[in-house]
Amino acid sequence: MSSEKESKSFAVVNCSQLVTLAGPARPRVGPEMRELGIIADGAFLVRDGSIAEVGTSEQIKARINADCDVVDACGSVVLPGFVDAHTHPVFSGTRVDEFEERIKGATYAEIAARGGGIQSTVNATRATHDDMLLHVSWHYTDWFLRSGTTTIEAKSGYGLSLDHELMILRVIKKLGDETDLRYIPTFLGAHSIPPEYRSRREQYVSLIIEEMLPAVASQKLAEFCDVFCEQNVFTIDESRKILSAARLHGLALRIHADQLSLSGGAKLAAELGTITADHLEHTDAEGIAALKSAGVQPVLLPGSVYALGSSHYPAAREMIDAGLAVVVATDFNPGSSPTPSMHMILSLATTQMKMTPAEAITAATINAAYSLNRGAQLGSIEPGKVADFVIYECDDYRELTYFFGVDRVWKVYASGRLVVEHQY
Ligand code: NIG
Ligand code: FE
Repeated sequence: MSSEKESKSFAVVNCSQLVTLAGPARPRVGPEMRELGIIADGAFLVRDGSIAEVGTSEQIKARINADCDVVDACGSVVLPGFVDAHTHPVFSGTRVDEFEERIKGATYAEIAARGGGIQSTVNATRATHDDMLLHVSWHYTDWFLRSGTTTIEAKSGYGLSLDHELMILRVIKKLGDETDLRYIPTFLGAHSIPPEYRSRREQYVSLIIEEMLPAVASQKLAEFCDVFCEQNVFTIDESRKILSAARLHGLALRIHADQLSLSGGAKLAAELGTITADHLEHTDAEGIAALKSAGVQPVLLPGSVYALGSSHYPAAREMIDAGLAVVVATDFNPGSSPTPSMHMILSLATTQMKMTPAEAITAATINAAYSLNRGAQLGSIEPGKVADFVIYECDDYRELTYFFGVDRVWKVYASGRLVVEHQY
């Protein structure tokens, strides 16, 4: 174990670009998304797991005393750890068989309609037990950390019964307690109508409202509630009922909206004042205007568009130009987006959604942190924030969006502790 791994106080010096994301204490909009607060030849001090001081290498070197270790970034870029604001990371099995079927022409919706899709992962997840689920999910924890992500929002949604949803949320809690990755839990019992309720769907909605939400809230197993609002999944009325009930239980709201069709999800998000509306591939100008007037943050998930073989990306440019505080995330899940890599998402955000490298990085860090009610703690390298940061083996931050299919992570720190080190 290196001394920097154990030390309580250390300085990181000689960062070619220290990408601080320092700025106003709120999500960044419009041209602010292109302001990264870069300090050339930057440095910072870490004390007790938090950022203590930030400046140039010259300024910080003058503050180093005998108790302070030094980490030489050797002319590398340093960024805050990525905050991945939309993932489904606890599930059993894969869907490689369906992946191959889609390549041969079947659509995601067709596979779901015949009982595959989300339901096949639900079947596999229900058939396992919590230890096994923990073991598999732990493996994915390492994938996130190794690619520079230090916080994820983690949804349930592959259980769809009271006991199985609670099992998944307990696994998420355990992962957050026992690994170096920060997990922020979301209850997604409304991910799909399970087959046993298909002919009496209103009873599944009641089960969510009357049994699942009270249990999740009283056991403090989630901060957010999400609903998959879509044709043939949860209707606008059902989504409104579930999210309104969740709010009464003290949960903050997110929604899968307008992913496969323009189903009115963005407008519902605006009506309810959810914190985020996620996906939005089919949201139109009216939906964008509604999100803007309600202050809802869009969470864009280009990995799911890419992996489903579509080219129907959400209108990120219009959203930024309209002044929305855009977030990008992986949507890591076994069906529509099997990637934990925010690097891949940055590549798609820039090449396919025409976000600039700076906008994409803002969307993956500080804006994502605000979308999880963590803007005061995470998402930037500023005094008082948690020392979650990543040293990359490159000297220009734009390389993170330009090279793709290659990992540029050198060292990852979570709460000031070295948790990943790659050799180059
Ligand atoms: O965000 N849209 C719904 N949920 C996931 C897909 C989950 C799955 O296919 O297993 C998504 O794309
Ligand atoms: Fe999702």
